[in-house]
Amino acid sequence: MEQYVIKGGNPLVGEVEIAGAKNAALAILTAAIMTDETVYIDNMPDVSDINVLLEAIGVIGAQMERIDRHTVKINGSTIGSVSVDYEFIKKIRASYYLLGALLGKYKKAEVPLPGGCNIGSRPIDLHLKGFRALGAKVDIRNGMVVASAEELRGANIFLDTVSVGATINIMMAASMARGNTIIENAAKEPHVVDTANFLNSMGANIKGAGTDVIRIKGVETLHKTNYSIVPDMIEAGTFMFAAAATKGDVLVKNIIPKHLEAMTAKLLEMGCEIEEFDEAIRVTAKNRLKRTHVKTQPYPGFPTDMQPQIAVSLALASGTSIVTESIFDNRFKYCDELARMGANVKVEGNVAIIDGVERLTGARVSSPDLRAGAALVIAGLTAEGITVIDDIVYIQRGYEDFENKLTGLGALIERVSSEKEIQKFKLRVG
Ligand code: UD1
Repeated sequence: MEQYVIKGGNPLVGEVEIAGAKNAALAILTAAIMTDETVYIDNMPDVSDINVLLEAIGVIGAQMERIDRHTVKINGSTIGSVSVDYEFIKKIRASYYLLGALLGKYKKAEVPLPGGCNIGSRPIDLHLKGFRALGAKVDIRNGMVVASAEELRGANIFLDTVSVGATINIMMAASMARGNTIIENAAKEPHVVDTANFLNSMGANIKGAGTDVIRIKGVETLHKTNYSIVPDMIEAGTFMFAAAATKGDVLVKNIIPKHLEAMTAKLLEMGCEIEEFDEAIRVTAKNRLKRTHVKTQPYPGFPTDMQPQIAVSLALASGTSIVTESIFDNRFKYCDELARMGANVKVEGNVAIIDGVERLTGARVSSPDLRAGAALVIAGLTAEGITVIDDIVYIQRGYEDFENKLTGLGALIERVSSEKEIQKFKLRVG
């Protein structure tokens, strides 16, 4: 089992290049199998979630090849099965996008029902409601979602809760339905827009993505395309808060500043300096961070995927901060780990009350999920002494070259897989 070992105390300084958005890539890779022609996708992050999804797509018969580290070539003409193995959905929930893609293209799909996960209960009732509204028969049988339709017909669909996954899944199926679909109360996240743009580049007719009403005119077939994925706003945000928490000065490159507004607003409130460029943003923290309150919201609100990273930064800020999680019901698990590093955090339901401390101290902690894992790395970078983080397999799901990018900014961090290597690291860094 690999771990990160970190010696804290160095401010992050320098420049970092952000990869393509993992969550957009998951949807776009799946949508790519909806045409029988060859699709090239660029700016694809090299992270384990994407590699698992590529494997799942390969197993149902599509041809796919990584032409270089960040470019994938896919051809869905050879798909021989519309049934996805549980092994994949267990590893990566977003393989449920294969429901919308296969149902749209073949009018039939069988995908295991994903269970809950480390951040709480995660139903997919809205996805299924959408497919049913499009005329599909949807049953749950032996743990599988089995969906089929003679013909998909456009429909008006109102989503009770704003859901990224349901919006994208329904958008994919509706792209190849007969007639017009309207999705109301749609999610507005940049990856929803990116998936719509990708589908449009294949000949779909989707308007309004990025607003809460998406209008889709179904088409019969989709065609080849070359597409480049948007930058990852969560990876960018993670480095921005890492810069803030370590009192550093980091230029975060290859980003879209507009996507980061909720985060820059908070960093400004916390006393950081922000400089915006066309495709980069510079975060400088000269003094101790100031307290603030934050509540996670669907885009353009503050993202739930950045909640642990801001909480760690606030654990070091002066005064008392309140962090409210309004999207997932169990996303504060990491707070116990943070407390082991000396943070003063009290969780009550979906609220964390944080009394800022002057410093954290290194400890052995374990990463409960992807984003909380990244947040614990930030905590380790600020802490006095050595931090060892277990279960970093979660972090590798979504951050490309995480430790190398941090090392490039002056951090003392190493990926290790034994006690011996931890001891060696300690000797080396003194
Ligand atoms: C996506 C992101 C995830 C992010 C989340 C919220 C991907 C692969 N994952 O997850 O990183 O944390 O958006 O920004 O893009 N809900 C229902 N019924 C449904 C679907 C969702 O009740 O059918 C609820 C969920 O329990 C949650 C809320 O809606 O409370 C939002 O979830 P959703 O936007 O669907 O999250 P995901 O798409 O799973």
